[in-house]
Amino acid sequence: MSALTLSTSSAATLRADAVVVGVAKGPKGPVVAAGAEAVDKAFDGKLAAVLEALGATGGEGETTKLPAPSGMKAPVVLAVGLGDAPAKDEAFGHEALRRAAGSAARALAGSKKAAFALPVEDADAAGAVAEGALLGAYSYRPAGDGAAKKNGKDEKAAKGAPLAEIALLGGKPRDKAFKAAAERAAIVAEELNRARDLVNMPPNDLDPKTFAATAQAAGKEFGLKVEVLDEKALLKGGFGGIMGVGRGSDAPPRLVRIGYTHPKAEKTLALVGKGITYDSGGISLKPAGHNETMKCDMAGAAAVFAAVVSAARLGLRVNVTGWLALAENMPSGSATRPGDVLRMYGGKTVEVLNTDAEGRLVLGDALARASEENPDAIVDVATLTGAMVLALGNRTFGVMANDDAFRTSVYEIAEEVGEQAWPMPLPAELRKAMDSPVADFANMGERMGSGLLAGIFLKEFVGEGITWAHLDIAGPAYHESAPYGYTPKGGTGSAVRTLVRLAERTAAGDLG
Ligand code: BES
Ligand code: MN
Ligand code: ZN
Repeated sequence: MSALTLSTSSAATLRADAVVVGVAKGPKGPVVAAGAEAVDKAFDGKLAAVLEALGATGGEGETTKLPAPSGMKAPVVLAVGLGDAPAKDEAFGHEALRRAAGSAARALAGSKKAAFALPVEDADAAGAVAEGALLGAYSYRPAGDGAAKKNGKDEKAAKGAPLAEIALLGGKPRDKAFKAAAERAAIVAEELNRARDLVNMPPNDLDPKTFAATAQAAGKEFGLKVEVLDEKALLKGGFGGIMGVGRGSDAPPRLVRIGYTHPKAEKTLALVGKGITYDSGGISLKPAGHNETMKCDMAGAAAVFAAVVSAARLGLRVNVTGWLALAENMPSGSATRPGDVLRMYGGKTVEVLNTDAEGRLVLGDALARASEENPDAIVDVATLTGAMVLALGNRTFGVMANDDAFRTSVYEIAEEVGEQAWPMPLPAELRKAMDSPVADFANMGERMGSGLLAGIFLKEFVGEGITWAHLDIAGPAYHESAPYGYTPKGGTGSAVRTLVRLAERTAAGDLG
Protein backbone atom coordinates (compact mmCIF):
# COMPACT_ATOMS: atom_id res chain seq x y z
CA MET A 1 0.00 0.00 0.00
CA SER A 2 1.02 3.62 -0.42
CA ALA A 3 3.04 5.12 2.41
CA LEU A 4 1.48 7.93 4.45
CA THR A 5 3.44 10.77 6.03
CA LEU A 6 2.41 13.92 7.87
CA SER A 7 4.35 17.00 6.91
CA THR A 8 4.59 20.57 8.18
CA SER A 9 6.25 21.77 4.99
CA SER A 10 4.66 24.39 2.80
CA ALA A 11 2.97 23.15 -0.37
CA ALA A 12 5.29 25.47 -2.27
CA THR A 13 8.58 24.11 -0.93
CA LEU A 14 7.80 20.41 -0.51
CA ARG A 15 9.54 18.06 -2.91
CA ALA A 16 6.86 15.97 -4.59
CA ASP A 17 5.62 14.99 -8.05
CA ALA A 18 2.37 16.84 -7.50
CA VAL A 19 0.56 18.99 -4.99
CA VAL A 20 -3.16 18.35 -4.56
CA VAL A 21 -5.40 21.32 -3.77
CA GLY A 22 -9.15 21.50 -3.29
CA VAL A 23 -11.54 23.53 -5.37
CA ALA A 24 -15.20 23.97 -4.52
CA LYS A 25 -18.21 24.99 -6.50
CA GLY A 26 -19.09 28.52 -5.49
CA PRO A 27 -22.11 30.60 -6.56
CA LYS A 28 -19.91 32.57 -9.00
CA GLY A 29 -17.49 29.90 -10.16
CA PRO A 30 -14.74 27.77 -8.67
CA VAL A 31 -13.39 28.68 -5.22
CA VAL A 32 -9.99 27.55 -3.99
CA ALA A 33 -10.33 25.72 -0.67
CA ALA A 34 -8.34 26.33 2.51
CA GLY A 35 -4.99 24.58 2.62
CA ALA A 36 -4.01 25.85 -0.84
CA GLU A 37 -2.87 29.33 0.26
CA ALA A 38 0.81 28.80 -0.58
CA VAL A 39 -0.08 27.35 -3.98
CA ASP A 40 -2.48 30.18 -4.74
CA LYS A 41 0.25 32.65 -3.78
CA ALA A 42 2.63 30.99 -6.26
CA PHE A 43 -0.09 31.63 -8.87
CA ASP A 44 -0.13 35.31 -7.80
CA GLY A 45 -3.52 34.73 -6.20
CA LYS A 46 -5.03 33.78 -9.53
CA LEU A 47 -5.48 30.03 -9.07
CA ALA A 48 -9.28 30.21 -9.10
CA ALA A 49 -9.24 32.36 -12.24
CA VAL A 50 -6.82 30.00 -13.99
CA LEU A 51 -8.99 27.01 -13.05
CA GLU A 52 -12.13 28.74 -14.29
CA ALA A 53 -10.40 29.60 -17.57
CA LEU A 54 -9.56 25.91 -17.95
CA GLY A 55 -13.21 25.00 -17.47
CA ALA A 56 -12.99 23.72 -13.92
CA THR A 57 -16.14 24.12 -11.82
CA GLY A 58 -15.19 22.53 -8.50
CA GLY A 59 -17.74 19.77 -9.06
CA GLU A 60 -17.35 16.55 -7.11
CA GLY A 61 -14.70 14.24 -8.56
CA GLU A 62 -13.45 16.70 -11.19
CA THR A 63 -9.65 16.77 -11.52
CA THR A 64 -7.59 19.43 -13.32
CA LYS A 65 -3.82 19.17 -13.78
CA LEU A 66 -1.80 22.37 -14.04
CA PRO A 67 1.91 23.00 -14.53
CA ALA A 68 3.17 24.52 -11.28
CA PRO A 69 4.54 28.09 -11.42
CA SER A 70 8.25 28.69 -10.86
CA GLY A 71 7.84 29.47 -7.17
CA MET A 72 6.97 25.84 -6.42
CA LYS A 73 9.22 22.80 -6.01
CA ALA A 74 6.63 20.33 -7.31
CA PRO A 75 6.17 20.35 -11.10
CA VAL A 76 2.41 19.73 -11.10
CA VAL A 77 -0.64 21.04 -9.26
CA LEU A 78 -3.73 18.87 -9.25
CA ALA A 79 -6.96 20.65 -8.39
CA VAL A 80 -9.68 18.27 -7.25
CA GLY A 81 -13.36 19.16 -7.02
CA LEU A 82 -14.94 19.07 -3.56
CA GLY A 83 -18.47 19.77 -4.74
CA ASP A 84 -20.62 22.60 -3.40
CA ALA A 85 -18.79 25.03 -1.12
CA PRO A 86 -20.10 24.76 2.43
CA ALA A 87 -22.03 27.60 4.03
CA LYS A 88 -19.94 30.36 5.62
CA ASP A 89 -18.21 29.19 8.83
CA GLU A 90 -18.92 25.58 7.99
CA ALA A 91 -16.33 22.97 7.08
CA PHE A 92 -16.37 20.51 4.21
CA GLY A 93 -18.05 17.21 5.08
CA HIS A 94 -15.71 14.30 5.75
CA GLU A 95 -17.11 12.23 2.90
CA ALA A 96 -16.52 15.11 0.44
CA LEU A 97 -12.88 15.22 1.60
CA ARG A 98 -12.55 11.44 1.45
CA ARG A 99 -13.93 11.27 -2.08
CA ALA A 100 -11.88 14.21 -3.35
CA ALA A 101 -8.69 12.71 -1.91
CA GLY A 102 -9.59 9.40 -3.56
CA SER A 103 -10.23 11.01 -6.96
CA ALA A 104 -6.91 12.85 -6.70
CA ALA A 105 -5.02 9.68 -5.79
CA ARG A 106 -6.53 7.87 -8.77
CA ALA A 107 -5.64 10.75 -11.10
CA LEU A 108 -2.04 10.55 -9.87
CA ALA A 109 -1.57 6.79 -10.35
CA GLY A 110 1.97 6.23 -11.61
CA SER A 111 3.42 9.20 -9.68
CA LYS A 112 5.78 8.55 -6.81
CA LYS A 113 4.86 11.20 -4.28
CA ALA A 114 1.97 13.59 -3.93
CA ALA A 115 1.38 16.21 -1.27
CA PHE A 116 -2.24 16.66 -0.24
CA ALA A 117 -3.01 20.27 0.69
CA LEU A 118 -6.76 19.84 1.22
CA PRO A 119 -8.79 21.72 3.85
CA VAL A 120 -8.22 19.85 7.12
CA GLU A 121 -9.80 21.80 9.96
CA ASP A 122 -9.25 19.13 12.57
CA ALA A 123 -7.82 15.68 13.15
CA ASP A 124 -10.93 13.86 11.92
CA ALA A 125 -10.84 15.77 8.64
CA ALA A 126 -7.16 14.87 8.25
CA GLY A 127 -8.09 11.23 8.91
CA ALA A 128 -10.75 11.40 6.20
CA VAL A 129 -8.28 12.82 3.66
CA ALA A 130 -5.71 10.16 4.56
CA GLU A 131 -8.31 7.39 4.29
CA GLY A 132 -9.66 8.65 0.97
CA ALA A 133 -6.18 8.99 -0.53
CA LEU A 134 -5.02 5.55 0.65
CA LEU A 135 -8.22 3.90 -0.58
CA GLY A 136 -8.18 5.80 -3.87
CA ALA A 137 -4.57 4.80 -4.51
CA TYR A 138 -5.54 1.12 -4.37
CA SER A 139 -5.10 -1.08 -7.37
CA TYR A 140 -5.33 -4.84 -7.53
CA ARG A 141 -1.95 -6.35 -8.31
CA PRO A 142 -2.23 -9.97 -9.33
CA ALA A 143 0.35 -12.09 -7.52
CA GLY A 144 2.84 -14.46 -9.13
CA ASP A 145 3.28 -14.31 -12.87
CA GLY A 146 0.59 -11.69 -13.43
CA ALA A 147 1.07 -8.12 -14.65
CA ALA A 148 2.94 -6.95 -11.56
CA LYS A 149 5.83 -9.33 -12.02
CA LYS A 150 5.97 -9.29 -15.79
CA ASN A 151 6.30 -5.52 -15.93
CA GLY A 152 8.92 -5.52 -13.24
CA LYS A 153 10.64 -2.17 -12.96
CA ASP A 154 10.06 -0.88 -16.47
CA GLU A 155 8.33 2.38 -17.31
CA LYS A 156 5.00 0.85 -18.19
CA ALA A 157 4.73 -0.79 -14.79
CA ALA A 158 5.23 2.58 -13.11
CA LYS A 159 2.31 3.94 -15.14
CA GLY A 160 -0.12 1.41 -13.78
CA ALA A 161 1.37 1.47 -10.29
CA PRO A 162 -0.55 3.25 -7.57
CA LEU A 163 0.68 6.46 -6.03
CA ALA A 164 3.57 5.38 -3.79
CA GLU A 165 3.71 8.10 -1.15
CA ILE A 166 1.04 10.36 0.23
CA ALA A 167 2.21 13.36 2.24
CA LEU A 168 -0.53 15.01 4.25
CA LEU A 169 -0.07 18.76 4.69
CA GLY A 170 -1.68 20.97 7.29
CA GLY A 171 -1.92 17.95 9.52
CA LYS A 172 0.15 19.14 12.49
CA PRO A 173 2.22 15.98 12.98
CA ARG A 174 3.21 17.04 16.49
CA ASP A 175 -0.43 17.18 17.51
CA LYS A 176 -1.37 13.84 19.10
CA ALA A 177 -4.88 13.80 17.68
CA PHE A 178 -3.67 14.36 14.12
CA LYS A 179 -1.06 11.67 14.46
CA ALA A 180 -3.60 9.21 15.87
CA ALA A 181 -6.10 9.99 13.10
CA ALA A 182 -3.48 9.40 10.42
CA GLU A 183 -2.34 6.16 12.03
CA ARG A 184 -5.91 4.93 12.35
CA ALA A 185 -6.59 5.77 8.69
CA ALA A 186 -3.47 3.89 7.60
CA ILE A 187 -4.46 0.74 9.48
CA VAL A 188 -8.10 0.74 8.39
CA ALA A 189 -7.20 1.51 4.77
CA GLU A 190 -4.56 -1.21 4.67
CA GLU A 191 -6.96 -3.84 6.03
CA LEU A 192 -9.82 -2.62 3.83
CA ASN A 193 -7.53 -2.85 0.80
CA ARG A 194 -6.63 -6.35 1.88
CA ALA A 195 -10.36 -7.21 1.88
CA ARG A 196 -10.57 -5.77 -1.65
CA ASP A 197 -7.65 -7.97 -2.71
CA LEU A 198 -9.42 -11.07 -1.39
CA VAL A 199 -12.59 -10.18 -3.30
CA ASN A 200 -10.64 -9.48 -6.49
CA MET A 201 -8.64 -12.69 -6.38
CA PRO A 202 -9.82 -15.15 -9.01
CA PRO A 203 -11.87 -17.93 -7.43
CA ASN A 204 -9.42 -20.59 -8.60
CA ASP A 205 -6.80 -18.89 -6.42
CA LEU A 206 -9.00 -18.25 -3.39
CA ASP A 207 -10.94 -21.25 -2.14
CA PRO A 208 -12.08 -21.92 1.44
CA LYS A 209 -8.77 -23.53 2.33
CA THR A 210 -6.58 -20.70 1.04
CA PHE A 211 -8.86 -18.11 2.65
CA ALA A 212 -8.52 -19.93 5.97
CA ALA A 213 -4.74 -20.05 5.54
CA THR A 214 -4.73 -16.29 4.92
CA ALA A 215 -6.61 -15.80 8.19
CA GLN A 216 -4.14 -18.04 9.99
CA ALA A 217 -1.19 -16.06 8.64
CA ALA A 218 -2.75 -12.76 9.71
CA GLY A 219 -3.50 -14.28 13.11
CA LYS A 220 0.15 -15.09 13.56
CA GLU A 221 1.25 -11.68 12.40
CA PHE A 222 -1.07 -9.69 14.63
CA GLY A 223 -1.46 -11.99 17.62
CA LEU A 224 -4.99 -13.21 17.01
CA LYS A 225 -6.32 -16.62 17.94
CA VAL A 226 -7.40 -18.46 14.79
CA GLU A 227 -9.22 -21.79 14.80
CA VAL A 228 -10.14 -23.55 11.56
CA LEU A 229 -12.71 -26.31 11.29
CA ASP A 230 -12.05 -28.42 8.18
CA GLU A 231 -14.61 -30.63 6.45
CA LYS A 232 -14.03 -33.50 8.87
CA ALA A 233 -14.51 -31.29 11.92
CA LEU A 234 -17.55 -29.63 10.33
CA LEU A 235 -19.17 -33.00 9.64
CA LYS A 236 -18.42 -34.22 13.13
CA GLY A 237 -19.60 -30.95 14.66
CA GLY A 238 -22.97 -31.07 12.92
CA PHE A 239 -22.52 -28.06 10.67
CA GLY A 240 -25.09 -29.25 8.15
CA GLY A 241 -25.53 -25.87 6.48
CA ILE A 242 -21.89 -25.27 5.66
CA MET A 243 -21.37 -28.92 4.70
CA GLY A 244 -24.54 -28.97 2.62
CA VAL A 245 -23.37 -26.00 0.57
CA GLY A 246 -19.75 -27.10 0.30
CA ARG A 247 -20.25 -30.75 -0.53
CA GLY A 248 -20.68 -30.23 -4.25
CA SER A 249 -17.22 -28.72 -4.62
CA ASP A 250 -13.80 -30.32 -4.89
CA ALA A 251 -12.59 -27.52 -2.63
CA PRO A 252 -14.04 -28.43 0.78
CA PRO A 253 -15.57 -25.88 3.18
CA ARG A 254 -14.12 -24.28 6.30
CA LEU A 255 -15.38 -22.41 9.32
CA VAL A 256 -12.83 -19.97 10.69
CA ARG A 257 -13.02 -18.38 14.12
CA ILE A 258 -10.66 -15.43 14.39
CA GLY A 259 -10.66 -13.85 17.81
CA TYR A 260 -9.21 -10.63 19.14
CA THR A 261 -9.35 -10.09 22.88
CA HIS A 262 -8.37 -7.12 24.99
CA PRO A 263 -7.52 -7.79 28.66
CA LYS A 264 -9.67 -4.88 29.82
CA ALA A 265 -12.58 -5.43 27.44
CA GLU A 266 -16.06 -5.19 28.88
CA LYS A 267 -17.96 -6.15 25.74
CA THR A 268 -17.71 -8.81 23.07
CA LEU A 269 -18.80 -8.26 19.51
CA ALA A 270 -19.27 -11.22 17.17
CA LEU A 271 -18.99 -10.63 13.43
CA VAL A 272 -20.19 -13.29 11.01
CA GLY A 273 -19.28 -13.19 7.31
CA LYS A 274 -20.68 -15.02 4.30
CA GLY A 275 -17.68 -16.52 2.56
CA ILE A 276 -18.84 -18.23 -0.61
CA THR A 277 -15.60 -18.17 -2.59
CA TYR A 278 -17.61 -18.83 -5.73
CA ASP A 279 -21.38 -19.01 -6.11
CA SER A 280 -22.38 -20.95 -9.22
CA GLY A 281 -25.84 -21.44 -7.75
CA GLY A 282 -25.22 -25.16 -7.29
CA ILE A 283 -27.77 -27.54 -8.84
CA SER A 284 -30.08 -24.51 -9.11
CA LEU A 285 -27.39 -23.23 -11.46
CA LYS A 286 -27.20 -19.53 -12.23
CA PRO A 287 -27.58 -18.69 -15.93
CA ALA A 288 -24.78 -16.98 -17.86
CA GLY A 289 -24.97 -13.28 -17.14
CA HIS A 290 -25.46 -13.92 -13.43
CA ASN A 291 -22.31 -15.80 -12.49
CA GLU A 292 -19.43 -13.71 -13.89
CA THR A 293 -18.96 -11.67 -10.72
CA MET A 294 -19.79 -14.38 -8.20
CA LYS A 295 -16.24 -14.54 -6.90
CA CYS A 296 -17.42 -11.55 -4.88
CA ASP A 297 -19.70 -13.77 -2.79
CA MET A 298 -17.11 -13.94 0.00
CA ALA A 299 -17.06 -10.15 0.45
CA GLY A 300 -18.86 -10.41 3.79
CA ALA A 301 -16.22 -12.76 5.18
CA ALA A 302 -13.49 -10.51 3.79
CA ALA A 303 -15.06 -7.50 5.53
CA VAL A 304 -15.32 -9.36 8.83
CA PHE A 305 -11.72 -10.53 8.54
CA ALA A 306 -10.50 -6.99 7.83
CA ALA A 307 -12.51 -5.57 10.72
CA VAL A 308 -11.19 -8.06 13.27
CA VAL A 309 -7.59 -7.49 12.18
CA SER A 310 -8.16 -3.71 12.27
CA ALA A 311 -9.57 -3.93 15.82
CA ALA A 312 -6.46 -5.86 16.85
CA ARG A 313 -4.03 -3.47 15.19
CA LEU A 314 -5.86 -0.49 16.71
CA GLY A 315 -5.72 -2.18 20.11
CA LEU A 316 -9.41 -1.49 20.77
CA ARG A 317 -10.67 -2.17 24.27
CA VAL A 318 -13.28 -4.70 23.16
CA ASN A 319 -13.30 -8.37 22.23
CA VAL A 320 -14.09 -8.99 18.58
CA THR A 321 -14.71 -12.49 17.29
CA GLY A 322 -14.92 -13.06 13.56
CA TRP A 323 -16.64 -16.09 12.06
CA LEU A 324 -15.87 -16.78 8.41
CA ALA A 325 -18.31 -19.27 6.87
CA LEU A 326 -16.34 -20.46 3.84
CA ALA A 327 -17.60 -22.73 1.08
CA GLU A 328 -17.72 -23.00 -2.68
CA ASN A 329 -21.21 -23.50 -4.11
CA MET A 330 -20.87 -25.89 -7.05
CA PRO A 331 -23.05 -28.44 -8.84
CA SER A 332 -21.79 -32.01 -8.97
CA GLY A 333 -22.78 -35.60 -8.27
CA SER A 334 -22.19 -34.97 -4.58
CA ALA A 335 -23.97 -31.61 -4.45
CA THR A 336 -27.02 -30.90 -2.32
CA ARG A 337 -30.22 -31.30 -4.38
CA PRO A 338 -33.28 -29.08 -4.31
CA GLY A 339 -35.50 -31.15 -2.03
CA ASP A 340 -32.77 -32.27 0.36
CA VAL A 341 -33.22 -31.59 4.06
CA LEU A 342 -30.21 -30.36 6.02
CA ARG A 343 -29.75 -30.54 9.77
CA MET A 344 -28.20 -27.25 10.71
CA TYR A 345 -25.82 -26.57 13.59
CA GLY A 346 -28.00 -26.52 16.70
CA GLY A 347 -30.49 -29.04 15.29
CA LYS A 348 -32.98 -27.07 13.19
CA THR A 349 -33.82 -28.70 9.86
CA VAL A 350 -34.05 -26.87 6.56
CA GLU A 351 -35.54 -28.04 3.28
CA VAL A 352 -33.33 -26.74 0.49
CA LEU A 353 -35.71 -25.68 -2.26
CA ASN A 354 -33.12 -23.65 -4.13
CA THR A 355 -29.41 -24.38 -3.83
CA ASP A 356 -28.70 -20.82 -4.95
CA ALA A 357 -30.04 -19.57 -1.62
CA GLU A 358 -26.84 -20.90 -0.05
CA GLY A 359 -25.64 -17.86 1.89
CA ARG A 360 -28.32 -18.23 4.54
CA LEU A 361 -27.37 -21.89 4.99
CA VAL A 362 -23.71 -21.25 5.80
CA LEU A 363 -24.65 -18.19 7.87
CA GLY A 364 -27.30 -20.12 9.81
CA ASP A 365 -24.64 -22.50 11.09
CA ALA A 366 -22.20 -19.70 11.86
CA LEU A 367 -24.82 -17.56 13.64
CA ALA A 368 -25.87 -20.52 15.80
CA ARG A 369 -22.25 -21.28 16.65
CA ALA A 370 -21.43 -17.62 17.36
CA SER A 371 -24.50 -17.42 19.62
CA GLU A 372 -23.14 -20.19 21.86
CA GLU A 373 -20.48 -17.79 23.11
CA ASN A 374 -23.20 -15.35 24.16
CA PRO A 375 -21.67 -12.15 22.72
CA ASP A 376 -23.16 -8.73 23.51
CA ALA A 377 -24.07 -8.33 19.85
CA ILE A 378 -23.76 -10.18 16.57
CA VAL A 379 -23.48 -8.50 13.18
CA ASP A 380 -23.48 -10.58 10.03
CA VAL A 381 -22.33 -9.28 6.67
CA ALA A 382 -23.33 -10.97 3.44
CA THR A 383 -23.76 -10.55 -0.29
CA LEU A 384 -27.05 -12.26 0.37
CA THR A 385 -29.77 -11.34 -2.10
CA GLY A 386 -30.31 -9.90 -5.55
CA ALA A 387 -33.53 -8.49 -4.10
CA MET A 388 -31.55 -6.07 -1.92
CA VAL A 389 -29.76 -4.81 -5.04
CA LEU A 390 -33.12 -4.26 -6.75
CA ALA A 391 -34.38 -2.41 -3.68
CA LEU A 392 -31.39 -0.21 -2.82
CA GLY A 393 -29.19 -0.15 -5.92
CA ASN A 394 -25.49 -0.72 -6.34
CA ARG A 395 -24.13 1.58 -3.67
CA THR A 396 -26.29 1.08 -0.60
CA PHE A 397 -26.42 -1.87 1.78
CA GLY A 398 -29.49 -2.86 3.74
CA VAL A 399 -29.48 -3.00 7.55
CA MET A 400 -31.89 -5.36 9.27
CA ALA A 401 -31.95 -6.23 12.97
CA ASN A 402 -33.90 -7.87 15.78
CA ASP A 403 -33.60 -4.61 17.74
CA ASP A 404 -34.72 -1.26 16.33
CA ALA A 405 -32.29 0.81 18.38
CA PHE A 406 -29.35 -1.32 17.28
CA ARG A 407 -30.44 -1.12 13.64
CA THR A 408 -30.56 2.67 13.94
CA SER A 409 -27.10 2.73 15.55
CA VAL A 410 -25.58 0.62 12.80
CA TYR A 411 -27.22 2.74 10.13
CA GLU A 412 -26.01 5.97 11.76
CA ILE A 413 -22.49 4.59 12.13
CA ALA A 414 -22.44 3.70 8.43
CA GLU A 415 -23.50 7.23 7.56
CA GLU A 416 -20.85 8.68 9.86
CA VAL A 417 -18.01 6.73 8.21
CA GLY A 418 -19.21 7.50 4.68
CA GLU A 419 -20.87 4.21 3.77
CA GLN A 420 -24.29 4.35 2.16
CA ALA A 421 -26.76 2.19 4.07
CA TRP A 422 -30.48 2.07 4.73
CA PRO A 423 -32.61 0.46 7.46
CA MET A 424 -34.91 -2.32 6.26
CA PRO A 425 -37.67 -4.14 8.15
CA LEU A 426 -38.11 -7.82 8.99
CA PRO A 427 -41.88 -8.25 8.47
CA ALA A 428 -42.95 -11.19 10.64
CA GLU A 429 -45.59 -12.40 8.17
CA LEU A 430 -42.91 -13.45 5.69
CA ARG A 431 -41.84 -16.28 7.98
CA LYS A 432 -44.92 -18.32 7.02
CA ALA A 433 -43.87 -18.43 3.38
CA MET A 434 -40.92 -20.59 4.44
CA ASP A 435 -43.10 -23.29 6.04
CA SER A 436 -42.08 -26.75 4.90
CA PRO A 437 -43.93 -30.07 5.15
CA VAL A 438 -40.69 -31.99 5.69
CA ALA A 439 -38.49 -29.67 7.78
CA ASP A 440 -38.67 -26.86 10.33
CA PHE A 441 -38.64 -24.47 7.38
CA ALA A 442 -37.41 -24.08 3.81
CA ASN A 443 -34.55 -21.90 2.54
CA MET A 444 -36.93 -20.00 0.26
CA GLY A 445 -40.33 -18.41 0.40
CA GLU A 446 -42.18 -15.91 -1.69
CA ARG A 447 -40.43 -13.66 -4.19
CA MET A 448 -41.85 -10.40 -2.91
CA GLY A 449 -39.63 -8.98 -0.19
CA SER A 450 -37.18 -11.86 -0.57
CA GLY A 451 -34.28 -9.77 0.74
CA LEU A 452 -36.18 -9.30 3.98
CA LEU A 453 -37.26 -12.95 4.00
CA ALA A 454 -33.59 -13.94 3.90
CA GLY A 455 -33.09 -11.79 7.00
CA ILE A 456 -35.98 -13.54 8.72
CA PHE A 457 -34.37 -16.88 7.89
CA LEU A 458 -31.12 -15.77 9.53
CA LYS A 459 -32.95 -14.53 12.61
CA GLU A 460 -33.99 -18.13 13.35
CA PHE A 461 -30.36 -18.96 14.12
CA VAL A 462 -29.58 -16.07 16.45
CA GLY A 463 -29.53 -17.09 20.10
CA GLU A 464 -32.38 -16.01 22.36
CA GLY A 465 -31.86 -12.50 23.72
CA ILE A 466 -28.82 -11.64 21.63
CA THR A 467 -28.83 -8.30 19.82
CA TRP A 468 -28.24 -8.93 16.13
CA ALA A 469 -27.96 -6.97 12.91
CA HIS A 470 -27.70 -8.21 9.33
CA LEU A 471 -25.99 -6.20 6.58
CA ASP A 472 -26.91 -7.26 3.04
CA ILE A 473 -24.05 -5.85 0.95
CA ALA A 474 -24.96 -7.59 -2.34
CA GLY A 475 -25.19 -4.18 -4.07
CA PRO A 476 -22.10 -2.27 -2.91
CA ALA A 477 -19.64 -5.16 -2.38
CA TYR A 478 -18.53 -5.27 -5.99
CA HIS A 479 -18.33 -2.22 -8.22
CA GLU A 480 -18.74 -2.91 -11.94
CA SER A 481 -18.90 0.56 -13.48
CA ALA A 482 -16.32 3.36 -13.63
CA PRO A 483 -14.34 4.16 -10.48
CA TYR A 484 -15.43 7.24 -8.51
CA GLY A 485 -13.96 8.96 -5.46
CA TYR A 486 -12.06 6.32 -3.50
CA THR A 487 -14.13 3.44 -4.94
CA PRO A 488 -12.30 1.32 -7.52
CA LYS A 489 -13.69 -1.18 -9.97
CA GLY A 490 -14.12 -4.63 -8.41
CA GLY A 491 -14.04 -5.33 -4.68
CA THR A 492 -14.90 -2.24 -2.65
CA GLY A 493 -14.34 -3.28 0.96
CA SER A 494 -17.99 -2.54 1.72
CA ALA A 495 -18.93 -2.65 5.45
CA VAL A 496 -15.34 -2.70 6.75
CA ARG A 497 -15.42 0.90 7.95
CA THR A 498 -18.85 0.45 9.50
CA LEU A 499 -17.69 -2.64 11.41
CA VAL A 500 -14.51 -0.95 12.63
CA ARG A 501 -16.42 2.09 13.88
CA LEU A 502 -18.96 -0.21 15.51
CA ALA A 503 -16.11 -1.92 17.37
CA GLU A 504 -14.71 1.46 18.40
CA ARG A 505 -18.09 2.63 19.64
CA THR A 506 -18.62 -0.62 21.52
CA ALA A 507 -15.19 -0.22 23.11
CA ALA A 508 -16.10 3.31 24.16
CA GLY A 509 -19.28 2.02 25.79
CA ASP A 510 -21.48 4.09 23.49
CA LEU A 511 -23.75 1.21 22.56
CA GLY A 512 -26.21 -0.54 24.88
N1 BES B 1 -24.86 -14.47 -3.94
C1 BES B 1 -26.21 -14.34 -4.34
C2 BES B 1 -26.76 -12.92 -4.17
C3 BES B 1 -26.11 -11.84 -4.99
C4 BES B 1 -26.77 -11.32 -6.11
C5 BES B 1 -24.91 -11.27 -4.62
C6 BES B 1 -26.19 -10.29 -6.84
C7 BES B 1 -24.33 -10.26 -5.36
C8 BES B 1 -24.97 -9.76 -6.46
C9 BES B 1 -27.08 -15.28 -3.50
O1 BES B 1 -26.47 -16.44 -3.07
C10 BES B 1 -28.24 -15.68 -4.34
O2 BES B 1 -28.04 -16.32 -5.31
N2 BES B 1 -29.45 -15.30 -3.92
C11 BES B 1 -30.64 -15.62 -4.61
C12 BES B 1 -31.64 -16.18 -3.62
C13 BES B 1 -32.84 -16.78 -4.24
C14 BES B 1 -32.48 -18.05 -4.98
C15 BES B 1 -33.85 -17.08 -3.17
C16 BES B 1 -31.16 -14.35 -5.26
O3 BES B 1 -31.04 -13.29 -4.64
O4 BES B 1 -31.64 -14.41 -6.37
MN1 MN C 1 -26.54 -18.00 -4.49
ZN1 ZN D 1 -24.43 -16.38 -2.83
